Amino acid sequence: MAEEKYTRQTVTHVRAWVPGKLFSLRVSRDPAYAFQPGQFARLGLAAEDAHDCAAPPGLWRAYSMVSAPHEAELEFYSIVVPEGQFSPRLARLRPGDALYVDKTPFGFLTLERFPDGEDLWLLATGTGLSAYMSILRDPTVRRRFRRVALVHGVRTAEELAYRDEIQALAGQDPGLTYLPIATRETLPGMPQDRLTTLVADGGLERLAGLALDPARSRVMLCGNPAMLADARKLLGERGFAPGRRGIPGNLAVENYW
Ligand SMILES: Cc1cc2nc3c(=O)[nH]c(=O)nc-3n(C[C@H](O)[C@H](O)[C@H](O)COP(=O)(O)OP(=O)(O)OC[C@H]3O[C@@H](n4cnc5c(N)ncnc54)[C@H](O)[C@@H]3O)c2cc1C
Ligand SMILES: NC(=O)c1ccc[n+]([C@@H]2O[C@H](COP(=O)([O-])OP(=O)(O)OC[C@H]3O[C@@H](n4cnc5c(N)ncnc54)[C@H](OP(=O)(O)O)[C@@H]3O)[C@@H](O)[C@H]2O)c1
Repeated sequence: MAEEKYTRQTVTHVRAWVPGKLFSLRVSRDPAYAFQPGQFARLGLAAEDAHDCAAPPGLWRAYSMVSAPHEAELEFYSIVVPEGQFSPRLARLRPGDALYVDKTPFGFLTLERFPDGEDLWLLATGTGLSAYMSILRDPTVRRRFRRVALVHGVRTAEELAYRDEIQALAGQDPGLTYLPIATRETLPGMPQDRLTTLVADGGLERLAGLALDPARSRVMLCGNPAMLADARKLLGERGFAPGRRGIPGNLAVENYW
């Protein structure tokens, strides 16, 4: 019989960050599953009409790894799209339930994209934070970059998932700056603006105490496709571009939908 392209893993822990909207889950990890921080997994669920529990998974979606490569389990952070086929079912999983994981990790939102550079900017909206958690939990990033600025744009403060963990990391590490940005609520001491507005008016640089300099800075973008398009345009005007045909770039982008 041909070897399967996926493994069957077991949910061990579920956390609701915003009930009905944002949650994370941890699953067991196949010891052979190796990945780079910033990569994504393909997760599978059995087809909804499959009554045979040995039926192969029929529905697959991409999910960035939140967990770092050294962690024993895999962790994922997800939105619930009410009309979506996959995320409402993923949100209903409970410890002991099965989740299938494609044996191959995917994606290029990894530090390897940037062979050099001094400062790393990680810009995310919403669940785009996922990939950056894996990068932040791995020690490589702080060996590679003098300064790291993580900017997380959300609508309201309750959507600032992983905030305590990131603040704890930043509290121990003066080279790591965390900028939580809410657009529909006022966060004390922070502007109530989209992160693109803050790129355009220099607000992010002032808040981080760090210049966005194409020669020294490396930028990752992840999350809402409209944000990616707007940010790419703004950053492009300032000399940031993805790598092409073997020429290393200073911008890496991951589109979630
Ligand atoms: C490389 C990659 C990595 C991804 N990583 C994550 C992740 O870490 N966490 C995560 O929640 N999703 C992630 N996604 C999106 C994920 O694959 C699914 O699309 C999502 O979970 C919704 O699945 P669905 O079947 O319920 O709805 P779908 O039919 O897949 O999507 C329906 C609509 O929901 C909206 N939507 C989809 N995903 C999101 C999202 N993440 N945030 C806001 N709106 C969304 C879009 O308008 C989309 O057209 C990633 C996608 C890609 C391509
Ligand atoms: N969050 C909710 O309470 C809520 C409620 C109902 C439905 N939904 C649906 O859930 C999905 C995801 O919602 P979400 O709140 O997680 O993600 P989102 O809509 O991508 O918003 C996350 C953050 O990204 C910002 N943003 C959006 N477009 C941008 C752009 N072009 N440039 C810069 N920043 C941009 C938003 O600012 P703005 O606030 O300025 O848009 C917000 O701060 C959406 O399809 C939404 O319709 C969400």
